[in-house]
Amino acid sequence: MFSGRHVIITGGSSGIGLETARLLTARGARVSLLARGAARLKAAAEELRATGASVDTRPVDVADPVAVKEVLDDLGPCDVLISCAGLARPGRFLELPDEVFREMVEVDYFGTLHVVKAVVPAMVARGSGSVVAVSSATALLGVYGYSAYGPAKIAVRGLMESLRAELKPHGVHVGVVFPPDVDTPQLAEENRFKPAETFAISGTVKPIKASVVARAIVKGIEKQRFLICPDLTTKMLARFGGVLAPVLNRYFDGKIARA
Ligand SMILES: NC(=O)c1ccc[n+]([C@@H]2O[C@H](COP(=O)([O-])OP(=O)(O)OC[C@H]3O[C@@H](n4cnc5c(N)ncnc54)[C@H](OP(=O)(O)O)[C@@H]3O)[C@@H](O)[C@H]2O)c1
Repeated sequence: MFSGRHVIITGGSSGIGLETARLLTARGARVSLLARGAARLKAAAEELRATGASVDTRPVDVADPVAVKEVLDDLGPCDVLISCAGLARPGRFLELPDEVFREMVEVDYFGTLHVVKAVVPAMVARGSGSVVAVSSATALLGVYGYSAYGPAKIAVRGLMESLRAELKPHGVHVGVVFPPDVDTPQLAEENRFKPAETFAISGTVKPIKASVVARAIVKGIEKQRFLICPDLTTKMLARFGGVLAPVLNRYFDGKIARA
């Protein structure tokens, strides 16, 4: 189903986005990778082209709606959009600077909204396409240390929930991904800022590989799934979060108190 299709991946130069690009080019997709840093984009493109893949790259900040629109118009019709660009900055609410709250929303939420807005009208006109956004397990349960990042990813979830309902009648598939901790450069960067209490909670769970998330994304698109959960824990949280929250909160509160 991906052969000859044009797949646009924001955040495609690293981590989950790059792993997804590897899988999709292996299945014959033509990919366009978007990120800010030109050097990592170039390295990703060279790696993928060495396998015979057709790859385009554009350095762009997804938080800039004008630049995003220009780039996406220039890239031409998109069959599959994977909005993966994002960043996470944990910290205690009382210590996080105001700019961090704004930055998370600008990049994680608006960075998703801008790309979705740029590609969806043409998909609706054609009556086909897939739009997938990467949210986070922190959008399924409030976690200590994620008062800036969590709400931005909850906004991504909310956007995709509304879009699922609105775009289904137009033949456009919408999916949202809820990864737990994933072993990527973002996690390494994030760990530099994590309070001890956040480590006490997330340290109990081994990060999964980016390739596991990428496989879940590809399968989610193939099966036209809305909820894309790469592991059992997020699957349970996505389906039964409301019921599980009081139990999990009690368990985590104990860990936080000890930390
Ligand atoms: N790793 C985890 O534990 C985890 C867990 C849950 C959800 N996620 C989500 O998964 C997605 C991918 O993260 P990852 O772990 O694969 O991280 P990663 O390896 O650090 O990759 C992040 C990608 O996003 C790009 N990016 C960041 N800010 C951008 C901006 N303003 N404009 C355009 N591109 C931007 C980065 O390139 P440049 O820096 O060059 O722009 C890079 O290509 C993110 O949305 C993240 O929040 C990650």
